[in-house]
Amino acid sequence: MESTFSGTIGVFDSGVGGLSVLQHIRAALPDAHLIYVADSAFVPYGDKSPAYIESRSSIISRFLIEQGAAAIVIACNTATAAAAAGLRRRYALPIIGMEPAVKPAVAASKRGVVGVLATTGTLESARFAALLEKYAGNVKIVTQSCPRLVEVVERGDLQGAEARQLVARYTTPLLKSGADTIILGCTHYPFLAPLIREVVGAQVQLIDTGKAVARELKRRIDLELPTLPPPPVDPEALPVLPTGTERFYSSGDPVQAERIMSKLWGRAVEVRSLA
Ligand code: DGL
Repeated sequence: MESTFSGTIGVFDSGVGGLSVLQHIRAALPDAHLIYVADSAFVPYGDKSPAYIESRSSIISRFLIEQGAAAIVIACNTATAAAAAGLRRRYALPIIGMEPAVKPAVAASKRGVVGVLATTGTLESARFAALLEKYAGNVKIVTQSCPRLVEVVERGDLQGAEARQLVARYTTPLLKSGADTIILGCTHYPFLAPLIREVVGAQVQLIDTGKAVARELKRRIDLELPTLPPPPVDPEALPVLPTGTERFYSSGDPVQAERIMSKLWGRAVEVRSLA
């Protein structure tokens, strides 16, 4: 059933990757106001400590709540692993995180070998270890951290020589291990899916979590929002947004962010500075 929710949802990522999730949220909640924060001044999160990521995630969540967000989506696997538990302790609104789609990938693999592309932070997290423990079963899981892949997406290089070379370098060990299913375990990677598909071939399944996250957000909204107390902000101070619109922020250079985010979002967008 299509949602008629017209409140505000806050979504954030270390950079532009979370736009791959925002697309699914837009489709699931056509009337919602969506506020997106790219923490571009601090990207990548993948090589930062959990404490650092938790601190950035908390500052951004506070900002989103001040803007009237009724729920927050952490559109980043790395930040979910590092910060979701802390944010949930601190803020009393629905906080939806995301993690590599191990369960569906294990179910989809015919050969019993699943590859995971993700950041070092995600792959080294206790949360990821718990996920494997719970869902891997007899399936062999081969992981590959992709430190430089986020950079190329941040530059908007989705098809260039460097992107192609990195994709080949990171996927080769997975294919050599016999993986027939590859999890895109970082929200930047779906933007590289056409290139990854070219490199790995048509027979390998690529699995991404964006749609499932949007579905979970909608489920939580339907279930919880009518009964939740309003967030502790002054309603007078809330910006009034027409329904079904998006507002974009970046902590980095807004001109650069505007160029890349317009390209990835598929139309020209205005990007405000996150002070
Ligand atoms: N997009 C993020 C993720 O889903 C993290 C990228 C990064 O900043 O390293 O993991």
